[in-house]
Amino acid sequence: MQVSTDTIQSNFSLKDFNTFGLDCTAGAFLRLDNPAELSLLPELISRYENYLILGGGSNLLLPDYFDGLVVQIALDKLQTRESDSDVLVNAGGGLNWHELVAFCVKENYGGIENLALIPGSTGAAPIQNIGAYGVELKDVFVCLNAFDLQTGEYRCFNREEMEFGYRDSVLKGRYKGRFIIADVWLKLTTRDHRINTSYGALAGDLEKKGVENPGISDVFKAVVEVRKSKLPDPGQIGNAGSFFKNPVVDAGTLESIQKKHSDVVFFELQSSGMMYKIPAGWLIERCGFKGKLKGPVGCYEKQALVLVNRGGAKSSDLVTFAGEVQRSVAAEFGIFLEPEVNIVQPENYGDVISL
Ligand code: FAD
Ligand code: EPU
Repeated sequence: MQVSTDTIQSNFSLKDFNTFGLDCTAGAFLRLDNPAELSLLPELISRYENYLILGGGSNLLLPDYFDGLVVQIALDKLQTRESDSDVLVNAGGGLNWHELVAFCVKENYGGIENLALIPGSTGAAPIQNIGAYGVELKDVFVCLNAFDLQTGEYRCFNREEMEFGYRDSVLKGRYKGRFIIADVWLKLTTRDHRINTSYGALAGDLEKKGVENPGISDVFKAVVEVRKSKLPDPGQIGNAGSFFKNPVVDAGTLESIQKKHSDVVFFELQSSGMMYKIPAGWLIERCGFKGKLKGPVGCYEKQALVLVNRGGAKSSDLVTFAGEVQRSVAAEFGIFLEPEVNIVQPENYGDVISL
């Protein structure tokens, strides 16, 4: 079997394939929808300078030109195995994440309703351990099957092997770019759902609607509404969600910030004593960036942590602006903001510091 050269497209525009809406051209592009073709990739990518695995492009900052092969994962199988109180869901890496969540809620499968409306693919979800409204992917994750581009073999990663952290996993860290996630196994509930309304905005929305004992479908709807009220729709305004991670600081750092900013917002981390998460959006807003535009890019007016492309931006505009935000926050608070978004080919830039 061979990947037909007809299916590889040259000088392919990725403008509609990244939620920032950046006008990136890929030297070569392949949409991979047949799992049998995975085994052909090691030889294929060796013919190019670079390669990039693409899902929905909702967590990427792409360059103007990507000199290499972009492989979009479009594997879309879906199977479920129900037992007495739970269900195992096996979802292809190319399935749209929100559609999977909506399907599960409709089937009365509980556990991922808080993760509604997160853009992108199911295959990318474990990479940064997507999270929202008190739930992270790791809470329902069983394992995944990934194709190793180095050895040409499949490898199964269980929860421990994934080394999940806040917006992090081994596949965003030391194995970045090496494995293609073909499918993911999740364990969800079919009864006695664990309803999580711990997140302030979510509880507030349900209370406002007078919902006292919410079910998974109430939570799903509330999450969708809260998100729509705060976050820009990438179909209207180019963005990739939170551009930076929320920083975690120790008690000493928090105290010194409180001396100057007594109203600083913070959350104590349950897992590690005396460590505190400060919303990056608050830090950025306090530095005066909320709603501020510099040419075509800026910080969204309702959520300072979301950098936006108001139309016609180049990746360098975003990189320069993000660097300015980083430097202001570092100067005012002594805190380094680490990008959450994957900046492709960072060696071409010198401005945003990526760890
Ligand atoms: P891409 O952007 O296409 O890729 C991201 C990374 O994963 C890249 O390194 C890529 O190479 C790799 N990758 C993609 N697919 C595969 C695969 N099958 N195998 C191997 N590697 C792969 N994230 C959150 O955690 N919580 C949120 O609440 C949230 N809200 C968002 C809101 C908006 C409006 C937007 C635009 C983004 C938001 N995000 C959020 C970020 C983003 O949606 C997630 O990170 C999502 O999982 C990215 O999926 P994707 O398919 O678009 O990945
Ligand atoms: N805040 C401000 N100004 C702002 C934005 C936020 O002061 O402009 C403060 C407010 O006090 C607010 C608090 O920050 O109450 C938290 O804001 P929000 O609820 O919007 O959440 P966040 O911490 O900014 C995180 C995730 C989001 C996720 C939401 C909900 C990160 C980096 N971001 O945002 O994830 O949807 O919580 O759980 O952890 C993403 O990763 O792309 C993303 C959107």
